[in-house]
Amino acid sequence: MQIIAIANQKGGVGKTTTSINLAAGLANEGKKVLLLDFDPQANATSGIGVDADEHDSAYLALIEGKPLQELIIKTRFALLDLIPSEMDLAGIEIELAGKEDQIHALKNALKPLKNSSDYDYCIIDTPPSLGILMTSALIAADEVLIPLQCEWFGLEGLAKIVQVIQRIAEGGSNPNLVIGGILMTMYDSRTNLSKGVLEEVKKFFPKEIYETVIPRSIRISESPSYGVTIYEHDKNGAGAVSYREATKEFLSKH
Ligand SMILES: Nc1ncnc2c1ncn2[C@@H]1O[C@H](COP(=O)(O)OP(=O)(O)OP(=O)(O)O)[C@@H](O)[C@H]1O
Ligand SMILES: [Mg+2]
Repeated sequence: MQIIAIANQKGGVGKTTTSINLAAGLANEGKKVLLLDFDPQANATSGIGVDADEHDSAYLALIEGKPLQELIIKTRFALLDLIPSEMDLAGIEIELAGKEDQIHALKNALKPLKNSSDYDYCIIDTPPSLGILMTSALIAADEVLIPLQCEWFGLEGLAKIVQVIQRIAEGGSNPNLVIGGILMTMYDSRTNLSKGVLEEVKKFFPKEIYETVIPRSIRISESPSYGVTIYEHDKNGAGAVSYREATKEFLSKH
């Protein structure tokens, strides 16, 4: 199982949307996928149509030592399972604070699954902060997929997340961690700003940037309110087409 953290400390850039639609996209392509909602906001959980209040989160595994496998629930997709989130995950920030070795708790909890053939990919949706949850996910991950909004502050944020990844890799916490890709989101072809940001990222990250660009789309923003993926909400629309393309590009890189 390969572990992919979907991360960017900047809020509202499309991490959760990408987590849901990449995870479901991979399942649609016949891959066995585990979606781990590691954000107390639980947007990936509700976005896929699961009631966060009815299930336990990874908190139990990290703080109480319950095997992570026991927290997995089925979704309506045959090949896509979920470890839901709920608000209690926020407590991890406090309970693990200052405990240096605990930062490896998620990595350790994922180990049995990583070494099994139960899943091809684990997609981790992370919260928008540089806190313990995101750091734990980056330490557990094989690679990071960075969703990046096509706007000016997006570029500033990119410099920061790249630094964080470097620090984790070079600091020895996870020496093999790499940027698996940068996915441009909410692209608006009518604006020069979107084009400018895209060109800038291409210049500095020619290998990492996905050729596929996710357009700004009302249909994409609507789908979580129905608890469905973009493939279910608007099967042939530009949003679904772009996430399907991004999924294929992901697979071509793996
Ligand atoms: N391509 C898109 N076009 C239009 N709206 C989008 C697109 N992608 C995401 N959105 C909307 O933008 C908002 C932020 O997206 P999302 O929740 O995926 O970002 P996030 O990075 O996970 O946010 P957070 O940092 O709060 O976890 C949501 O309302 C979502 O529906
Ligand atoms: Mg999110």
